[in-house]
Amino acid sequence: MCGIVGYIGQGAVQNALVNGLEKLEYRGYDSAGIYVVDPAGNGHLFKEKGRIAALSEQVDFEIEASVGIGHTRWATHGVPSVDNAHPHQSANNRFTLVHNGVIENFRELKENYLSDVHLYGETDTEIVVNVIAAMAEKEGLGAKEALQKTLQVVKGSYAFAMIDAEDPSVLYAAKNKSPLLIGLGDDFNMVVSDAMAGVQLTNEYIEIHDGEIVMLTKNEVLIETLTGEVIERASYRATVDASDLEKGTYPYYMLKEIDEQPAVLRHIIQEYQGEDNQLEVDEALLAAMMEADRIHIVACGTSYHAGWIGKHYLETLAKIPTEVHIASEFSYNQPLLTGKPFFIFISQSGETADSRQVLVKVKELGYPALTITNVQGSTLSREADHTLLLYAGPEIAVASSKAYTAQMTVMAILADVLGRQKGHDSQWDLAHELGLVARAMDTVIDEKAQLEELAQAYFTDTRNAFYIGRGLDYYVAMEAALKLKEISYIQTEGFAAGELKHGTIALIEEGTPVLALVTQASNASHTRGNVEEVRSRGANTCVIAMEGLEQEGDQFILPHVHEELAPLVAVVPTQLLAYYATLQRGYDVDKPRNLAKSVTVE
Ligand code: F6R
Repeated sequence: MCGIVGYIGQGAVQNALVNGLEKLEYRGYDSAGIYVVDPAGNGHLFKEKGRIAALSEQVDFEIEASVGIGHTRWATHGVPSVDNAHPHQSANNRFTLVHNGVIENFRELKENYLSDVHLYGETDTEIVVNVIAAMAEKEGLGAKEALQKTLQVVKGSYAFAMIDAEDPSVLYAAKNKSPLLIGLGDDFNMVVSDAMAGVQLTNEYIEIHDGEIVMLTKNEVLIETLTGEVIERASYRATVDASDLEKGTYPYYMLKEIDEQPAVLRHIIQEYQGEDNQLEVDEALLAAMMEADRIHIVACGTSYHAGWIGKHYLETLAKIPTEVHIASEFSYNQPLLTGKPFFIFISQSGETADSRQVLVKVKELGYPALTITNVQGSTLSREADHTLLLYAGPEIAVASSKAYTAQMTVMAILADVLGRQKGHDSQWDLAHELGLVARAMDTVIDEKAQLEELAQAYFTDTRNAFYIGRGLDYYVAMEAALKLKEISYIQTEGFAAGELKHGTIALIEEGTPVLALVTQASNASHTRGNVEEVRSRGANTCVIAMEGLEQEGDQFILPHVHEELAPLVAVVPTQLLAYYATLQRGYDVDKPRNLAKSVTVE
């Protein structure tokens, strides 16, 4: 959520900033801006409402700059506008700052330090940059000391990059709760909120931890604590490849990512297969989970939906009672904990603030935690005791697709391995079954033309829609509904098929699209009964049925796979339906309104 790029040293500064911001645009696209300083010490500020492309038209790429910072914004404080766009400058124009996160005590800071300062916008960031200036002015401090002092009074989450016009040979950075990395180059250094923003220029990164300040020159990196203690930290090589970030011939990342799912599945099988081709997970993780008397899965959005499938696998394969929690609700509805709880955090980005605040609490209470994430080294991965990676490659489209199927796959592998360790015979060769799932996904992906037609038939003009199902199909219905609503703006509910008649069926009228998922023999006839109930009340129905469970009527047929793994295949047509419905309605598939990837505010 929001993106930061800072660059100091030899090279085309504006290009580095704008290219980096383009890679981060999926994290927020309400406004964007860059600030660069030329060798004569003159600062140049460019800001624009909306997308990076609009900013790019404003930027003067001819200026020979030696340092700069840039930002792409997802609005928290203040409407999307040029005034509220970052970078923000102090009233005396000395300090320029970009910020990801939310400053909680911004009102108090304003009252205490800025009674006589005129603010041009409504952001918490503008308040912070003016507090830094006030600290520097009042106490005659240099930039580092003023930043240190300010951070001691600031409460909230932040990743900052800052330039002091009085000494532009140094680029400053600091973080608390929001991600920020140092990128190392030849004759240049960078700060980025995600390695993706720098991979065109460097693969070598150093983590910045909470409570640290960083000073970068073009050839040096100095990391200090807020009290001035110097920190030495080794660099690492980022696994992200610049080519992973390209759309190639695809019109949208979402379509590319949907198509990548069979390959991702095969990659996961490889990564989790041991020498004897048995699926395996880390011994220490297994030992910790063997102790658990109850598992709590914590996640948000799509990852939360994957959590329900994970619960099913953990309970059926490993026979451990499992609960699923929406991260942002956890504090208000904290479960009664048993003697040996074990926590699983599912997060594609590994940065979601709602999930992280639960993890912090869980660690304070001293319970073991596993993070299942796509991003190695992400905050949730670092702070949990164990990590399982999704190996899905960067997911750029705001609407998650391949991460969801990867999450379900990794949960199945974990539950299967744990079940075997506990002596429960699952009677299947999961790696083999997953291979068949990958093939079935390929078949569905080849049916794009049919799905495009179905999207046209069901979703072109509708205001609302339903996905229904029972058991595992219900969990997929929740995800199918989220996908459709978040990108096409059709108000869609994912509903337990049997529950409709207890009230919600009142919403069904002539033409309301109701799509039913039917992949489980045990409940197929019941769900079909519910389809008939809505059809007789005028609904425009369609059944997404697995081979063997098909019947007469409008339907999309899924190739047969093991029923337990049907969600992995059943979700694919719903992703494509959402994709085509969005295109047909004329919206931007990859960047839906009001949203951003990686939600780093609570
Ligand atoms: C929807 C979507 C979101 C995320 C949610 C959690 O398509 O992507 O609902 O699943 O914001 O994000 P992560 O998994 O990064 O914690």
